[in-house]
Amino acid sequence: MNKPVVIITGSSSGFGLLAAIEFSKQGYFVIATMRDLHKQEHILQRIELNTMEDHIRFAEVDVTNSNSLDSLKNILHDVGHVDVLINNAGFATGGFAEEVSLQEYKSQFETNFFGVIEITKLVLPFMRKQGNGKILNLSSISGQIGFPGLSPYVSSKFALEGWSECLRLEVNPFGIDVALIEPGSFQTNIWSSGKKVAEKSLLPSSPYHQIMKKIEAKLEKDKEKYGDPMEVVRLLVNLAEAPKLTKLRYPIGQGVKTGILLKSMVPWKIWEKFVLRAIGR
Ligand SMILES: NC(=O)c1ccc[n+]([C@@H]2O[C@H](COP(=O)([O-])OP(=O)(O)OC[C@H]3O[C@@H](n4cnc5c(N)ncnc54)[C@H](OP(=O)(O)O)[C@@H]3O)[C@@H](O)[C@H]2O)c1
Repeated sequence: MNKPVVIITGSSSGFGLLAAIEFSKQGYFVIATMRDLHKQEHILQRIELNTMEDHIRFAEVDVTNSNSLDSLKNILHDVGHVDVLINNAGFATGGFAEEVSLQEYKSQFETNFFGVIEITKLVLPFMRKQGNGKILNLSSISGQIGFPGLSPYVSSKFALEGWSECLRLEVNPFGIDVALIEPGSFQTNIWSSGKKVAEKSLLPSSPYHQIMKKIEAKLEKDKEKYGDPMEVVRLLVNLAEAPKLTKLRYPIGQGVKTGILLKSMVPWKIWEKFVLRAIGR
């Protein structure tokens, strides 16, 4: 294999789907993983089929299930090296902490946190032996800023940020770069099929019902303003192409850098008021 190789998890929709298409156009050999291989059609419809074998292979992977990794392992064995790993698979669980079950928290972490660890551990031996590689972890603005009604998602991304920071320091001496991509809100399925809300917080009997409704209404209203996911995909390609990733964090999207900067600068009391006012409290 003389092409650069990229693995993208969760490539059946959103950033992952668009990244699989874009990286193959840019001359990469793409290993596109997804839970349901029927969804590979979404990619196949949009790339040059006659050259597909040279550009892309699909592996059925549920990042929460270690037993589902065999096809990815086989492809890795055939290909023999990995230049870029994009840990993209993820979803968002909302709800108020008092009403989110432990199982709902665990399920959120299984995908957004432990899933990333599992796939990374599979790829690290290849990158370490090669003496190079890039690991791009899809975090979120929610990896730096907490928001009421979103603690499962936010805490999974905060955990991912802490883990990635340690990993970067551990593997940098082996020539491997680790970076966090921190998007704001972009138009993908994470706001529809990729979103779960703790059932209890949706019930009219919930003490959080009114505020949950306000948050949901705000999300719905803002949807049209969400960014074009290709912006994030272009950032991923640029990072993959860069000789060295000098930063750990790459925030992207409207208001994201300003939000992170503000949080780091203003006293907590003011920040808190600002966040609560955004949801009408
Ligand atoms: N869009 C945004 O505004 C935004 C902002 C910040 C961060 N992000 C992050 O970006 C990443 C991609 O999300 P997206 O916005 O592109 O949403 P999306 O369109 O819903 O795509 C999510 C992808 O993850 C896959 N996935 C979910 N659970 C999985 C599992 N257990 N194993 C394997 N694949 C799984 C989904 O597969 P199925 O088709 O099988 O469900 C889908 O391919 C996520 O990590 C998300 O947290 C998104």
